[in-house]
Amino acid sequence: MPVITNINDLKKIHKRRTPKMFYDYCESGSWTEQTFRENTSDFEKIYLRQRVAIDMSGRSTKTQMIGQDVSMPVALAPVGLTGMQHADGEIKAAKAAEKFGVPYTLSTMSICSIEDVAEHTQKPFWLQVYTLKDDDFMQRLFDRAEAAKCSAAVITVDLQLLGQRHMDLKNGLSAPPKLTVKSVANMMTKAQWGLGMLGTKRRFFGNIVGHAKGVENASSLSTWTSEAFDQSLDWARIKQFRKMWKGPLIIKGIMDARDAKEALNVGADAIIVSNHGGRQLDGALSSIRALPAILDAVGDKIEVHIDSGIRSGQDVLKAMAMGAKGTYIGRAYVYGLGAMGEAGVTKALEVIHKELDTSMALCGKRDINDVDRDILMIPKSFEGDWQD
Ligand SMILES: Cc1cc2nc3c(=O)[nH]c(=O)nc-3n(C[C@H](O)[C@H](O)[C@H](O)COP(=O)(O)O)c2cc1C
Repeated sequence: MPVITNINDLKKIHKRRTPKMFYDYCESGSWTEQTFRENTSDFEKIYLRQRVAIDMSGRSTKTQMIGQDVSMPVALAPVGLTGMQHADGEIKAAKAAEKFGVPYTLSTMSICSIEDVAEHTQKPFWLQVYTLKDDDFMQRLFDRAEAAKCSAAVITVDLQLLGQRHMDLKNGLSAPPKLTVKSVANMMTKAQWGLGMLGTKRRFFGNIVGHAKGVENASSLSTWTSEAFDQSLDWARIKQFRKMWKGPLIIKGIMDARDAKEALNVGADAIIVSNHGGRQLDGALSSIRALPAILDAVGDKIEVHIDSGIRSGQDVLKAMAMGAKGTYIGRAYVYGLGAMGEAGVTKALEVIHKELDTSMALCGKRDINDVDRDILMIPKSFEGDWQD
């Protein structure tokens, strides 16, 4: 086993060990993947200001997200089909997160169900909610989350329909995978993955099959989303969801200040500036570039979180210094999970924590809560100077 020192090391092992269909599902953006690429490359345009001869002992990355204690401001983002990257993937990721002291967000489109994850963990996790047409299903989803003691609901608002990711179509992505000559030939080269899958009964969309009416065989993500997702979703409908769920509410997928204000109006506790990891509207700004305008608009009234493109503790530091109150990682932990299961997710969190802690210190800060724009050098053109 090579020495793992960064997230990219985990990505290389993930690629080797996981069937192509699922690795590609993780590593794709929509259409030209411009937004997917810029989510990461835009972080590199922001520089950190080195300070010296400042007491760096006794550091802390502890803070709070929506009033809940976190060992560092990094939650695990909701990722569909996590249980296809590694057997029982959602349970393994949730366990790694709870041991590390960071929130885990379970996707609606998970393989392990809400109840299953609750049974295998001690601390509350967060539930991500896709907005479906079926009212009964939605109310039951919130009720199930309450029964499982989920400590927040994260409503994703940027996926009324699916952005096209070419590889998923070419690979015939489904859960469980369709057995074609090509997919079987590829899976046969992934022995560890295959053994894990043979040893688990969790191979279907656990939150959907048996819970949504008329859905016994929701194997194809694209068919299912096009049939069940609510294309007519609007803020009035989101207000109804606010009434269905009494606990803390986070709205995910905000990229414009006007939408941030709407989220504030429906009574959300936090918003996530996110372009879905570059998987929905290709050609949208990177999340980190969209962040400043949203902070200007609502930053003093609501907690603003961010995801998309975070691959290191330095990225977390930059986002926090810009004014975000929390960050999420998607692919960064999925690489770890695909590479080494629960231990890989833990490794991803350790790598990010160490980078965050050391970089914060070298910027002359000892407490993540004291980090601000002073440690950043942001190019004047970073936010863009757009025509009206
Ligand atoms: C493979 C994959 C599946 C995802 N599935 C979901 C999902 O089910 N629900 C959701 O709200 N977001 C989903 N996302 C988006 C993530 O929650 C998050 O916004 C994104 O991964 C952040 O970008 P990053 O991967 O660059 O960190 C998914 C992302 C990936 C990579």
